[in-house]
Formats: sequence, structure tokens, C-alpha cells
Amino acid sequence: MIDVHCHILPGMDDGAQSEDESLEMARMATNQGMVAVFATPHIVRGSYDTEPSTIRQATERLAECARNAGLPLLLYPGAENHPAPDLVENCRLGKVMTLGGSKYVLVEAPGAELPWSFEKILFNLMVGGFHPVLAHPERNPTLNRDSPRLLSIFRTGVILQVNARSLTGFYGSRVQASAERIVRECLAGLIGSDAHQPRDYEGLRRVRDHVRALGGDRAVAAIVQNEEALMEAVSEAAARFTGLPSPRR
Ligand SMILES: [Fe+2]
Repeated sequence: MIDVHCHILPGMDDGAQSEDESLEMARMATNQGMVAVFATPHIVRGSYDTEPSTIRQATERLAECARNAGLPLLLYPGAENHPAPDLVENCRLGKVMTLGGSKYVLVEAPGAELPWSFEKILFNLMVGGFHPVLAHPERNPTLNRDSPRLLSIFRTGVILQVNARSLTGFYGSRVQASAERIVRECLAGLIGSDAHQPRDYEGLRRVRDHVRALGGDRAVAAIVQNEEALMEAVSEAAARFTGLPSPRR
């Protein structure tokens, strides 16, 4: 399994606060069956402004610590990007840390109101040659009430990333119902932990069974297919950077 969304890098946001905690998260992720993890700190202009080069360096450092600790876990840089109108322009300029340096861009579905131009931001990313991955749409109070709107976003080609803990009810019944509906209708393209601390990985090993129980093999296949496509894209992008492990072993 691949975790495309977590806050594992130390001291970058409200996630891990020390290298020890980051390493413990990596250990938990491994124990729960993850083979690859994308480190995706929050990027919100004016509050969390971490540069891609800083994210890369921190990821490489943590990957080295994980290797030294004997953890068979691949770590890749990424970011959870606030849906700002200039997101696509910043992607073009290389100012955004995409998932593993690929064309996949993790975009946060905010916990509160959606920006008025939300769909346009996603559309512009696709027109610009990027693949938007929408983080936890089930947690957004507009999208989790408005299924047709979310369905139309899915149909434009946006990959919906459901949080594993949404399926277990961690965020409440409304979010859980929305996450279950997304999975049951085979709209979930990727799963993320959105882990901020080691214990957030507890129980993640069962998430694929949970997906299968809700949406059958078709729901699992949709996720596996996207994971493979993402890792292929990361593999192609990895050649451009030093220090990043290739997912082809
Ligand atoms: Fe997150």
C-alpha cells in the first residue's frame, strides 16, 4: 500500500515535531503495510511557506534515517497545497512540490468553505498538464453534502483521495458516510493516512479490506491502478533528481 498524504516531516507544520517522532511514524507506517509514503506538509501562502527544496532535503534526510533503522519504506517528497488561484502558475514555475516530482499535485479540500473558483483551480491544473489529487473531499462540508458537485469534479479527471480514518469514523458520522459513499461508488482513486502523529497509523492495515467490503474488487482495483500510475510517474521524475530512490526495485 502507498500513503499519498501524511505530515511526517519534522517541524514543518502541525504534524511530526521532531526527527524521533518522524521516524516513529515511518515505523508505524511500515508496520501497517505501507511500502511507500509521500511526505506532504501543508503549504498555505503566508502561514506554511516551505520551499520544495526544503521538503526534498528533509525527505531525503528522513529516508536516510529510515534506511539506517532498517525500515523497508520508500519516502518521497510532496505537499498538501491550499487551493489558491495561482497554484497552476506556481506549478509551472517549479514552486510547488508535486508528488515525488511528478505531475501529480495534492490539493487540499479545505475543512471550511471552498474558494469560489475551486473547480477552475482544478481545471487549470489539468489544462496545464498536471494531475490534481483532491485530498479528503469527504471532510469538506460543501462537498460531503453535495454529491453531484463532487461527481462532476471526479468526472473531469480529478483523483479523489479519501482519508483512511474517514472510513473508520474518526472525523464523525457525516464524514464517514461521505467517505463510504465515495468508496462504494468506486470514486476513490487513492487513500491517504493524513497522519500527523504515529498513532494516526493505527489500524491502517485494514483499510483495503474496508474498501473491498464497501465497493468490492472494483473499488480496490481503482485505487491500485492509480497507485501504479503514480509510482510510474514518480519513477520517470526520479531520474531528474539525485538521492531519491526509484520505486522500481
Ligand atoms: Fe493533510
